[in-house]
Amino acid sequence: MTSLADIAGVGADPRRGGYSRHGFDRVELELRSWFTEEAGRRGLSVECDRNGNLWAWWGAPGDGAVVTGSHLDSVPGGGAFDGPLGVVAALEAVDVLRARGFVPGKPFAVVVFAEEEGGRFGVACLGSRLLTGAISADAALRLSDSDGVTLAEAVRSAGLDPSRVGPDAEALRRIGVFVELHVEQGRGLVDLGAPVGVASSILAHGRWRFSISGEGNHAGATLMVDRRDPMVAAAQVVLAARRAATAVEGARATVGRLIPNPGGTNVIPSSVDLWLDARADDDARTRAVVAEITAVASEVAAEEGCVVTVSEESYGDTVVFDVGLRDSVSGVLGGVPALPTGAGHDAGILAGHVPTAMLFVRNPTGVSHAPEEFAEADDCAAGVVALASVLEELAR
Ligand code: GLV
Ligand code: MN
Ligand code: MN
Repeated sequence: MTSLADIAGVGADPRRGGYSRHGFDRVELELRSWFTEEAGRRGLSVECDRNGNLWAWWGAPGDGAVVTGSHLDSVPGGGAFDGPLGVVAALEAVDVLRARGFVPGKPFAVVVFAEEEGGRFGVACLGSRLLTGAISADAALRLSDSDGVTLAEAVRSAGLDPSRVGPDAEALRRIGVFVELHVEQGRGLVDLGAPVGVASSILAHGRWRFSISGEGNHAGATLMVDRRDPMVAAAQVVLAARRAATAVEGARATVGRLIPNPGGTNVIPSSVDLWLDARADDDARTRAVVAEITAVASEVAAEEGCVVTVSEESYGDTVVFDVGLRDSVSGVLGGVPALPTGAGHDAGILAGHVPTAMLFVRNPTGVSHAPEEFAEADDCAAGVVALASVLEELAR
């Protein structure tokens, strides 16, 4: 059987801790080869679609398939489970079904979506967004990583044709139903004493870039009264994010990335870019939080003699997973708990197009997007068996 231990050494990040595995980088390409090999060992035939998503077919490819899987990329310094657990569980579920003597009565595929975290090109769920048309090919191909490499260049060097990147009606038609297993990113299942649950909903969420420009100058020679320091404005934006989200029930706002230019200890930066991740129960609340932070940003930038521009880099409204599917999944599993999540997933992108469900596996630390993310082997095994049972029912 395949296990997470097989890829434990791939993309380990000694500087940050955890794993740094990003869309189409050397590490992710190695993981793709590993997946292709594992799928091949099972007699699954692997195809890469126009947007870099991998499909391993059990039997002949076809429309209306039962599809399961997740992603192999991570956030910078992420945990071992977010993404890979869903891929490994999908492969193991095939093993379990085979051992049960099951043969799918419908097309059946294991999928690996590309660049789910947006850790390299900034837009989360890039592979599924491109496939469904939630982002245009032009906008996506222009995205660039921190070294200035564009998505167009990255996909080309991964052997794909950038001119074919974009909405893929054929791939979408092939998905009849999608089930993604994922490590829980919270302690809901710990509190409920349950190893496995189903997802009920995903918060509305998005990413906004705040670019603040001021005047680069000397840290020692520039009097305090003479400064137009974008870092001072940026610091107040960070605090405004905390305040704005705290004022709206259920909202979250995070600044996890901030880049001063040029970035020297003895240099007043000429500009600062920071990225806001904001989430809330619905569109109105999310937009209200972002509007409040944007208003503060304009005010504090003006006070500092700086200029700020704000651009939305990605957005997704609240997702409520297909209730009928969720109930039947829960039924197959003997009535497991349903939990909402604040984390985004490819399943959330697909939910606007096809019936979609998610299974969560208990995470004793409750931590995710950090090396402490964890799931016990027994709970992962329970997740695999649960996934296999759900897929068996769907693919009968
Ligand atoms: C992805 O895991 C996200 O929620 O940002
Ligand atoms: Mn994640
Ligand atoms: Mn994930």
